[in-house]
Amino acid sequence: MSRELKNAWKLIKAHESYRRKTLNLIPSENILSPKALKALSTDLAGRYALKPEFYGGTKYIHELWTYAEELTRKLFNVEYVLLEPLSGHVAAILVSHTFAKGGRLATLPAEDGGYPGYEKTKIPDLIRAELIELPSSKEYYTPIVEDSMRVIEERKPELVILGGSIILFPHPVKEFSEIVHSYGGILAYDASHILGLIAGRVFQDPLREGADLVYASTHKTFPGPQGAIVLTNSFDVYEKLSENIYHKIVDNIHLNRLAAYAVTVEEMLRYGMVYAKKVVENAKHLASSLDSLGVPLKAKDRGYTESHQIILDIQDSEARVKVRDRLEECGIIADAGVRFGTNEVTRRGMGKREMEKIAKLIHRAIEGEDPKKVKREVRTLLNRFQTLKFC
Ligand SMILES: Cc1ncc(COP(=O)(O)O)c(C=O)c1O
Repeated sequence: MSRELKNAWKLIKAHESYRRKTLNLIPSENILSPKALKALSTDLAGRYALKPEFYGGTKYIHELWTYAEELTRKLFNVEYVLLEPLSGHVAAILVSHTFAKGGRLATLPAEDGGYPGYEKTKIPDLIRAELIELPSSKEYYTPIVEDSMRVIEERKPELVILGGSIILFPHPVKEFSEIVHSYGGILAYDASHILGLIAGRVFQDPLREGADLVYASTHKTFPGPQGAIVLTNSFDVYEKLSENIYHKIVDNIHLNRLAAYAVTVEEMLRYGMVYAKKVVENAKHLASSLDSLGVPLKAKDRGYTESHQIILDIQDSEARVKVRDRLEECGIIADAGVRFGTNEVTRRGMGKREMEKIAKLIHRAIEGEDPKKVKREVRTLLNRFQTLKFC
C-alpha cells in the first residue's frame, strides 16, 4: 500500500496561500510586518543568551535586548519592563505564581470575558490558589463595579486581575485600585488583547489608572511576534517578578522573537497611534453595519465596542460553531466566540467602505448564500489589500 509522504515545506506553503486568500477576523491574531517576519528567521533563531550574561557570542544580542527594553519603556511610558515571557499564558503564570501562590486570585469568569487560563482547574490549580470570580456583565463583559468591590472587600484576594479575552470596554481599574491597595493586594491588568490599543493611546491606560502591573501578549492588536511583556512602575513588583523568571518560568527567551518584537516596537512608535485609532473606528463601523443588516450583536446600547472586538449575540455554543464553520466555507476566518476583530483587516489598509462590504459578506454567509459566490467576492476584496500598512 503506497501512501503519499507529507512534506513540511509544502504544508507551510499551503497554509500561507490559504490564509492569504481568506479574510481574517480573529481578534487574537495579526500579521507581522515583512521586516519583523524576516527577523524571526535570522541567526538569532538558534542562539542563547541569559541574564546575567553566561553565553559567549552575545555582544550584539545584549545590545539588542537593552535597546528593545528602552523602546518598550518609551512606547508605554513606563519604568520597568520584562520581555522574557514566551507568551501571554506564560506571563499569566509568572504574575499569578508571584503574587497569588497558595492564596486567592480574583478575576472575571471566562464566560463573561475573563481569560480561560484562570478557570479553577487551570492556573489556579497549578499555583494552588483559590479562584474568586468577580460578578460580571454578560452583555458588556465588564465587572459589575459595586458587586465586585463588595466581593474584593470581603475576600481580600492577594491578586486581582482585570482585562480579559473578550474586552469591549475599559475595566474599572481606578475604582478597584484603592480598595485592592487598602489591604496590600496587587492589581494586575491582562492587556493581551488590547496592548496595541494602549500603545496607540486609544484605550484605557491601566498603569496610569492605578494598576500595579500590566502583562500582555505581543501579537493580537499589538502586531508583533508571538510572545509577551510585563510593564510596571513599581521597583518592588519588578524585583519580585524578576526573581521568578530564569529557570522557573523560562530559560531561553527565544531571541528571534525578541528581535522581531524590537522591530515591531520601532514601527509602533512611528505608526501606532494612527493604526490603533483606525482599528477602533473600523470595529465600530463593522458593528453598526452588521446591526443595520439585522445581525445580532452584544452591547448595542453602549455603541457595541470601544476596542478592536465585536461580539455576535448567539446564545447556543453549537450554533456559534456552525457560524464559524459557515463563515470559513465562505473564506472568512473567525473563532467559535463568535468574536470579530478588526486588527488584521486594518493592517491590510481597509477602512469604512470595506467594513460595510465585510458586513454584507458576513450577513450573506450567515443567511446561507452559495459559499462559492461569497468566497469569490472575499478574494476579490482581499486582492486589493495585499500590501501591509503601518510598517
Ligand atoms: C486575555 C488573554 N490573556 C492571555 C492569553 C494567552 O496568551 P498567549 O496565547 O500569548 O499565550 C490570551 C490568549 O488569547 C488572552 O486572551
